[in-house]
Amino acid sequence: MNEAAPLPKGNMGEPVARIDARLKVTGDARYPADLPVRDVAHAVLVTSPIARGRLTQLHTEAARAVPGVLDIIAAGDVDGELERPQFGNSGSTSIAPLHDRRIWHDGQIVALVVAETFEAASEAAALVRADFQAEEPSSGFGSPGIEIIPAAGASPLYPENPEAGDFDAAWATAEISIDETYSTPTQHHNPMELFSTTASWFDGDVTVNESSQNVTGWKNTLARQLKVDPEHVRVVSPYVGGAFGSRGPMTPRTAIIAHAARRLGRPVRCVVTRKQAYTTQTYRAETRHHIRMGAMKDGRIVAFRHEGWELTSRPDNYVVGGTGTTARMYGYGAVETKVSLVKADRNTPSYMRSPPETPYVYALENAMDEMAVALAMDPVEFRRVNDTMTEPIEGKPFSSRSLMECYDQAAEAFGWNRRTRGIGSMRDGDWLVGMGCATAVYPTNVAPCTARVRLTADGRIRVQSGSHEIGTGIRTVAAQMAAERLGAPFWSVEVEMGDSSLPPAPVSGGSTSTASVCSAVMKACDAIRARLFHAAVTANDGPLSGLAPADLGIADGRIVAGARVEAVANAMERMGVGEIEEYAEFAPEGSSADAIANLYKGKLEMRMGEEGAKVKYAFGAEFVEVRIHRLTRETRVSRLVGAFAAGRIMNPRTARSQLMGGMIWGVGCALHEATEMDRHSARYVNTDLQDYLVPVNADIQDVKVILVEEKDTDVNPAGVKGLGELGNVGTPAAVASAVYHATGKRIRDLPIRIEDLL
Ligand code: MOS
Repeated sequence: MNEAAPLPKGNMGEPVARIDARLKVTGDARYPADLPVRDVAHAVLVTSPIARGRLTQLHTEAARAVPGVLDIIAAGDVDGELERPQFGNSGSTSIAPLHDRRIWHDGQIVALVVAETFEAASEAAALVRADFQAEEPSSGFGSPGIEIIPAAGASPLYPENPEAGDFDAAWATAEISIDETYSTPTQHHNPMELFSTTASWFDGDVTVNESSQNVTGWKNTLARQLKVDPEHVRVVSPYVGGAFGSRGPMTPRTAIIAHAARRLGRPVRCVVTRKQAYTTQTYRAETRHHIRMGAMKDGRIVAFRHEGWELTSRPDNYVVGGTGTTARMYGYGAVETKVSLVKADRNTPSYMRSPPETPYVYALENAMDEMAVALAMDPVEFRRVNDTMTEPIEGKPFSSRSLMECYDQAAEAFGWNRRTRGIGSMRDGDWLVGMGCATAVYPTNVAPCTARVRLTADGRIRVQSGSHEIGTGIRTVAAQMAAERLGAPFWSVEVEMGDSSLPPAPVSGGSTSTASVCSAVMKACDAIRARLFHAAVTANDGPLSGLAPADLGIADGRIVAGARVEAVANAMERMGVGEIEEYAEFAPEGSSADAIANLYKGKLEMRMGEEGAKVKYAFGAEFVEVRIHRLTRETRVSRLVGAFAAGRIMNPRTARSQLMGGMIWGVGCALHEATEMDRHSARYVNTDLQDYLVPVNADIQDVKVILVEEKDTDVNPAGVKGLGELGNVGTPAAVASAVYHATGKRIRDLPIRIEDLL
């Protein structure tokens, strides 16, 4: 078997190829803007060239004179027709571009031009002239006019700063200490598929085709904004060309396009330019960190303090609060944390792959590496000394924690024992070779989910759940779960997802989907099994008559108990049914009584990894080899090895793909990605894929993913810990560690650039 499809171990599923692999590689998978829509009109956004101030006048005469222009919607034109967008609970921001004349950020939508063709709409949009009363904007950290507020309590997502023990007293006893600051930049998603919305009304019902990670949430959010009942709204998102949070919360454009279509009495499509996506979509906010870590000479950490600052917009308190994870990472002794929000004249940030962990664990793991150096300890051994089966904040046990198994397996595969300790001690001609490592961690979150499964007498299975194929392979693993529980071949399962008319599933975010969807599918399948088993044991003269249902199993289309078997089709015939359909509602342990009702209303009710009697996290260890040219300081990542333990692996092939993609993203985070801002105008500068750097094939050489066997029955019925966001967490710090090993330069601010190493 080749590397792309690793052999399953222990409780891992089969490495089957994706259900939609062929559709995707042949281009047959239709993304929302590809769907043909009859008589569709094309919309183009007009956006603000200033970051702060007021729109005083919009001049649209020249634009209206362009042949083919159908409508121009501007500030004030939606009053009474459209509710303002809300921040939180499926909405990306409270900034209401066509309700207000206030300009909150660069590139804010100020008007929408609708025309017969995209070309006409683009030409007219370029002719719309706006007058502004401009004010001096604050771009972010260090700018005059920013406002800094405590994050705790500013958002329901971050109720308090985790802490334990007396940090000051413990810090005073430390024999070795680290006291440093770290930072991460603004990053933008840049998915391959451009952002788009297509809205069509028919008889009072609206269908919105838009790539989404949350069709049910958006349906409800959109209904509120359009002032219609949710049953008149349908959101369809069959395939998604890059999500990772960028299509999690709904942005204000969606309702504006739906409103434009209603007003025009004709379908309207808007494909947002890549440049405009930088300001009309969401992004990862820049962060700063101050870490104090105190240890004894034997390597035990006795005091840990993590203070973070995150950028957000003026009106919305978006917070990631990664101290929730860093404070629980090792057996620290005393812990103190604090998170603040820095409010500036910026669009509201939001999720981007491992929103809390990418910046916060980068800071922590960089500090861990610095401490290992200060202690003259091997960084792996330093983690081993501080490994813990009990998290330090509330003293709760981890449901499972295979961190050191990950380190050991990755170190072995990487050849860590070949590393020589001295700075710059490993060379290959003109190249300085550095080796480093860091921990990857992501909480095991899980959310309420529903699914419907139908088994027909000819052995076909249909699974329906309103989840989203964002590239993770969720359709494939849901099919695997159904095939396994119903004893059927994988190819007999058909999966429908990505449509708000299906039984609702949670937002495909927070690495919850495999755990949540598979738990719901499993429950529906088990209800079908129960009906089949009941029929089999209660039959008058069947081969399984009189047995207890608990003694039965199902495999290869047959109900089995030892040597006694009955074909599923037989049992169904006796039941007098051609099909069995079951709908199941799965709510994680500890959910509220309204969990499923809230899911239908599009209200997120996720159970987080740190909640419950045991804390639940997935772990990994990543090792990186860098080669830095002696003279030019060009940095190449020549090897990446990651070992990850994430409970039950439904499919080693799709799991490996996600982890590998995450590690590569981590290289981008370490060496390439940053959205630059002109600090004077508070406008983004490098708003395209030519100037916003991401790793390409030539940047990535050897990537090895190891799946460490782990069984965890506490996390959820499926036994699955999410791993969609795990892979990119450790990489940036591992690269920083390797760069230090090669050059002796400790880079604390991402990305690491040539000029930092000269
Ligand atoms: Mo993921 S950033 O939670 O969509």
